[in-house]
Amino acid sequence: MSRIPRGLLLVLVLLTGCNRTSPELVKSELASLQACEEMARDGLRPIAASREDRFLGKVQLPTAVCRGGNGAAQFRKTPWVDWTNYWGAGDASSKAPDFVKQAGHLGPTQRGVDGALLDLEYERIELIKFNLFDNNGTYKDYVSGRGGVGGPALKTWKEMRLPPANPDYARVGGSGDQVCKGELIRHRNVNGICNDLFNPLMGSTGQLFARNVTFDTTFPDQGRTALTKNRHGDRLGLMKPDPQVISRKLFTRQQADPGKCNNGYGLPGFSKDADCDYKKAPFFNVLAAFWIQFMTHDWFSHLDEGHNQAEYMPVGCASQKVNGVEKPLTPEDAKKLGCRPGDQIDKAYVADNTDPKQFSKDGKTYSERAPKTFRNNVTAWWDASQIYGYDDRSRIRVKRDPKDPAKLLLPAISGRTVAGDQQGYLPTLAASDPMNPEWAGQEATAFPDNFTIGISFYHNVFAREHNAFVDEFRKQAARTPDADAGLRNPAQPARVIRYRDVTPDELFEAARLVVAAEIAKIHTIEWTPQLLYGEPLYLGMNANWNGLLGDHAPEVSEALRQIVSRSFGTSRDVKKATQWYSVFASGPGIFGLGSRVYADDPVLALIDPNKKDIWDLSNPQHVNGGVNHFGSPFNFPEEFITVYRLHALVPDLLEYRDLATPNEIKNKIPVVETFQAKATDAMRSRGLSNWALTMGRQRLGLLALQNSPMFLQNLKIPRLNSATQQIDVAALDLIRDRERGVPRFNEFRRQYGLRQLTSFDDFVDQHVPANSPENASQKQLVAALREVYGQHLCDSSKVITDAQRNEDGSPINDCLGHPNGSMVDNIEDVDTVVGWQAESTRPHGFAISETQFVVFILNASRRLYSDRFFTSSFRPEFYTQLGLDWVINNGPGPAQIEKGTPNGHSQPVSPLKRVLLRTMPELTAELNTVVNAFDPWARDRGEYYSLDWKPRSGAEADDAFRKR
Ligand code: HEM
Repeated sequence: MSRIPRGLLLVLVLLTGCNRTSPELVKSELASLQACEEMARDGLRPIAASREDRFLGKVQLPTAVCRGGNGAAQFRKTPWVDWTNYWGAGDASSKAPDFVKQAGHLGPTQRGVDGALLDLEYERIELIKFNLFDNNGTYKDYVSGRGGVGGPALKTWKEMRLPPANPDYARVGGSGDQVCKGELIRHRNVNGICNDLFNPLMGSTGQLFARNVTFDTTFPDQGRTALTKNRHGDRLGLMKPDPQVISRKLFTRQQADPGKCNNGYGLPGFSKDADCDYKKAPFFNVLAAFWIQFMTHDWFSHLDEGHNQAEYMPVGCASQKVNGVEKPLTPEDAKKLGCRPGDQIDKAYVADNTDPKQFSKDGKTYSERAPKTFRNNVTAWWDASQIYGYDDRSRIRVKRDPKDPAKLLLPAISGRTVAGDQQGYLPTLAASDPMNPEWAGQEATAFPDNFTIGISFYHNVFAREHNAFVDEFRKQAARTPDADAGLRNPAQPARVIRYRDVTPDELFEAARLVVAAEIAKIHTIEWTPQLLYGEPLYLGMNANWNGLLGDHAPEVSEALRQIVSRSFGTSRDVKKATQWYSVFASGPGIFGLGSRVYADDPVLALIDPNKKDIWDLSNPQHVNGGVNHFGSPFNFPEEFITVYRLHALVPDLLEYRDLATPNEIKNKIPVVETFQAKATDAMRSRGLSNWALTMGRQRLGLLALQNSPMFLQNLKIPRLNSATQQIDVAALDLIRDRERGVPRFNEFRRQYGLRQLTSFDDFVDQHVPANSPENASQKQLVAALREVYGQHLCDSSKVITDAQRNEDGSPINDCLGHPNGSMVDNIEDVDTVVGWQAESTRPHGFAISETQFVVFILNASRRLYSDRFFTSSFRPEFYTQLGLDWVINNGPGPAQIEKGTPNGHSQPVSPLKRVLLRTMPELTAELNTVVNAFDPWARDRGEYYSLDWKPRSGAEADDAFRKR
C-alpha cells in the first residue's frame, strides 16, 4: 500500500530469473510497480471530512494500475467501483501470472486483494460517518453533541429509556438512571429489551426504523425541497410511474413455453415436464434464497401479525407511457400486459406523519426525523426471534416439550423413518394459538407469515439443532453433574452454577443464545462469502467474525493503522478517537469484542492466554463494554428493507429429488403449492432431508430484471378485501418503498457514496463484448427502462443534489453532464429496486449488486457491533461453557477441519454443513464433497472462485447439468 518498497523491483528481477516468463509480462509488472511507487508517494487518502469529499469506490490512476494493471485502469471512467477489477478479485484468470506469485503480499495478486480490502474498509468507515440517521429524536444530539461530547461519541439516549407504561420500568430504575440488571440481563428477552444495559428500549419490538439517507431526501414524491423538485419535477407519485406496468415490463420472467410454466403453477401431478424459465446463479442454491427470507423474518417486519392498515388502495395497472406520453390502459392493454386493475392492497402502517421539528446547527437547518416514520414490529436484534418469539403473543406459538421444557416440542411423524426423522418435526399451530386465519394448519413458529417449504425447512432444522444442544448438555451433565457449567446469575455473580443446577428454563434460554449466534455465524462466514463469491469478501467476512488483518493481510493491517493514527490519533476528542478506533475492530474481529478485559486495554483486546482477564459480571461496564452504536441507536433503516426485497431469488418450480436417487429430478413442485399449510403437508409427506437435497442442488434466481417469480406476480391471498384477492408482490415492492419514502436509485447511490449514473446506457456492462448476445439483451433492457421511465429536456440551472459534486467541484444539475436543453433519461426517477436489479456490472461472483452491497457493509457490521451478546457478553456466564465452545467450534467437540484447501484456505467444516449433518445424518454421503452449504451441492467448485456450472465427480448424471 503506502510502503511498496523500491526494493521490490529487485525482487521482481530475481523472480524473473527463476521462472518461465514472457518479456511482456515482465514489462507490464514493471509498469505496475512504477504505478505502485507513484501511489505510495501520494500517500493514503485521509478519511473524508465532508460528504462531498467522500470515497466513491474510485481510485487514482496509479492506484488502479498498481492493483490491477491496465485491466483496472480501463474501467475507471465507469460509475462502478474499481476494486472489482483488481488482481485476484475474480476467478483464477484474475490472478497474477505465475512468475510473481512468490512475492506474497508484494506480488500483484495480493496487492489486488489487499487493495480491495482497503477500499472496502474506507467505504465502511465513511458509511458509518455519513449515513446514520435515527428517527427516534436522537438525531439533534448526533449533530449538535451533548454535554461537551460529540454526537457520534454519545452512548446513551433518553429516547432509549423504558417508558412508565412498560412492565419493566421500575426494574430498570424507573425515573432515575435506567440500568438493566439481574434477570433482565441474563439472556435475550423475548421483546428485545435490555440488550444494551444503558439503553433498555433499543432494538426492542415496536421501535422505529432508522434511515441511512438524509431526512430531506426521503419522500421524493412530496417535493419538499427545491433539490427534490429539481430532481424529479412532477413526475413521481405513489402510482407514478405505474407499479404494475413496471412489474410486467421490467420484472416478468420470459418463458420459452408459457404453457409448461402456467404462471408459476406448473403442471398437474407435479409433473417433471413442467418448466418455468428463470435466470440462474450458478454458484448459489435455493437453500440460500430461503435462508435470507428466514433471516429477514428475524430482523424486521413492517407488518403486524401479517396485516397492514385496515384501509385499502388500488395498486396500478392504470396507465403507461406511449411514445413518452402517459396514456390510460385499455382493458386490452391490461390483458396483454397481464396486470390486474382490480387488485387492491392494505395501506402500510405509519407511526408518525406529523411535520418533523427543525433545528439549526452552524447556520444549517436540519429536520429532527423523516416526514413519516414506521415501526419494526419484531426485535431488530439477530436473536432468532422468528423461532423464539418477539413478544408475548408470538411466544405462545413457540411450543416447548413438556417432557423436557428445555427443549422445543418436535413430535415424530408416522411414516418418516430416516435417521434424522427421529429428531422429530414441528407441531402445527393449535386452534387456540393467536393467529391469522390463513396460517391455520401450518407449523407452529413465532413468525408464521409468508410460510413456504423453504421457511418450514429452516424452522425444523433449527428446532432440531436447539434440541441437539440440549441433549449434549444433558449428556455432559450426566457425566459431570458437579462441574461448573460456566453459567452465572448476575444477581449472585459469585455463585458457581453446576451442571446439575441448571434449570430447564435456563438451559432453554442458553440454547436460544447458542442458536442465534450459530445463525449469525452461518450468515457471516458461510452465506455471505457465497453470495459475494471471491477472495476479498471471503477475507472480509471472516474478518468480521474471527479478526483478519494480522493473519491474512498484514499490508492492509499496517495501512489501517496508519489511517487511524493520521486521521484520529491526534484528535483531542478522546471519546471520538476511541469510537473511530473501534471501526478497526476488523483487526481482532467484531465477534467477542470486549469479552475479555485487560487492565491496559479495555476494548480491543485480542485473546492473550498470558494476560489476566478481569472481565466481571457485576460490572455493567464490562457486560456492555464491547458494543458500539456510533452515536446512533441501532435499528435497521428503511433503505435496508429495500435492498432485501429479494423475491427474484426464488424459482417458480422446485426440482424435487430424493436421497435414494439424488441425480434424478422426480417432480417439479411449484413453490406456491407449498404456501402456508401446504408447506407442512409437503414437509411431512416428503421429509426434511429430501427437501434439503432438493434445495441444496438447485440454483437460485439471479437478482436481475425480468427475473421475478411468476407466482409472486399472481399470488392469491385470501385475506385481501379486494375483487381479485390477488397481488403482484413485485409491484408491491415498489409501492411499499414509495410509501416509505425511499429515495430513487440515483440519489440513493449518491447518498451512500457511490457514483451516479448519467443515462440508462450506463447499465450496460463494459466488460461484456459489444455485439455479443449478452450485450444485446442488456441493451434491450435499457430500451425497456427508457420506455417505462421516459426522458425529459434538461435544465442545467437546476441543482438536484447536495450529497455529491461533479469532479470539477461544480454542483450536480438536472443535465447530469449532458448539454443544457438536451433530452436526458429520467434516470433520477428509477425506483431503487428496479435500479439495483438493472446493474449488470457486478464484482465477480456477486449475487447482489454493488448498490445493495454498500447498504450491507454498513448495516451488517452494525448489527454485530451493537449487540452485546455477540461482543462483550459472548461469555460462558451467559452461553454456558458448552454453548460458547459450540458456537466457536461449530458444534460439540473440537473444530473439524475441511479436507484440502478450498480456494487456497485451510478452513473448519462450515457451520451450516455441521448443523445439517447433525440434524439429518442421512445427508452424510451427499455433503461429503460440499464445502459451503449454499453452493449448489453437485457443482464442481473448480480451482479459485470458479462460477462454472459443471458437475462434480459422481454427479455427472445429474439432470440439472443436461443441456436443454
Ligand atoms: C417464497 C415465498 C415468498 C412469499 C410468498 C413472499 C411474500 C411477500 C409479501 C406478500 C410481501 C408484502 C408484504 C406487504 O408489504 O404487504 C413480502 C414482503 C417482503 N418480502 Fe417476501 N415473499 C417470499 C419470499 C421472499 C424472499 C426469498 C425474500 C428474501 C429476502 C423476501 C423478502 C421480503 C421483504 C424484505 C419484504 C418486505 C417486508 C417488510 O416490509 O417488512 N421475500 N413478501
